[in-house]
Amino acid sequence: MFRNRRLRANAIIRNMVRETRISKDSLIYPMFFEEGENIFEEIESMPGQYRMSIDRCDSVIKELLDAGVGAVMLFGIPKHKDEVGSEAYHDHGIVQEAIRYIKENYPIYVIGDVCMCEYTSHGHCGILKGYDVDNDTTIKYIAKIALSQVEAGADMVAPSDMMDGRVSEIRELLDANGYENIPIMSYSAKYASAFYGPFRAAADSAPAFGDRKTYQMDVHNIREALKEVYDDVAEGADIVMVKPAMSFLDVVTKVKEITDIPVAAYSVSGEYAMVKSAAKNGFIDEEKIMCEMAVSAFRAGADIYITYYAKELAKCIDKGLIG
Ligand code: PBG
Repeated sequence: MFRNRRLRANAIIRNMVRETRISKDSLIYPMFFEEGENIFEEIESMPGQYRMSIDRCDSVIKELLDAGVGAVMLFGIPKHKDEVGSEAYHDHGIVQEAIRYIKENYPIYVIGDVCMCEYTSHGHCGILKGYDVDNDTTIKYIAKIALSQVEAGADMVAPSDMMDGRVSEIRELLDANGYENIPIMSYSAKYASAFYGPFRAAADSAPAFGDRKTYQMDVHNIREALKEVYDDVAEGADIVMVKPAMSFLDVVTKVKEITDIPVAAYSVSGEYAMVKSAAKNGFIDEEKIMCEMAVSAFRAGADIYITYYAKELAKCIDKGLIG
């Protein structure tokens, strides 16, 4: 008889033959910075996540570092929005100031999310021409945003706009300014997903009309994701990302197979909100579910996992629940 249970007999042997190893080093925590003072406002659909002003971020960063999480990704919520999202590339914009503050005070790796939807009055991820986002104008702005974040001290930039050609545009501008060593993590396979709902409410970035389907990917497609990855790698991306994570793990696996560079998976706001609300009702075990979701992303092939549960997962690793 095949005795598959032999290697499941106790924790020592189970851990010895474990196929997927998870480390805190692979976790990135997203944060929402809002312009203003003394703001620490819980996001209704994302209990435990906050929109915060810079003066209120210390405890969050300290807790992350204490837990062993070494990287954050920043989103900005400006006071002023306009047609061209000018606060996104302003020297003293909310994200630039947050980057500066964190880098001056903490030994944590800071990644800037590069997009326009939180900064434009119309909520789209770029500059409009009629009712659609104009690709070639937008990528000039995207590169400008990336440069301003790097000048403020960002360790890495992560374009999430899904315009064509933005990775090479960013690479060229960073290189021309002496930042050839700053890596680009591209949201390569970013789907037009309903899982971003809570984020858009949190960042006040829902499109005022239409949707994002002319730039984000159709959820029915996977070969198109590989095309996006090939293009971004050719343009100079250092890391490629698949987003969302949980419903797109087949994409993570495929992307991992076809590329030699690290693959990130982003467990997005809707995934977090679903777990939180089910747990609140007592329907699921939050800790076990968050662990299982994280493990599944790494098992699928992710090298890096971006998650609102970063701190809690780090604690689960300490407790030996996963690892
Ligand atoms: C900006 C951006 C979004 C997310 C990350 N960057 C929203 C969107 O594309 O509408 C979503 C993150 C999340 O849901 O957790 N373009």
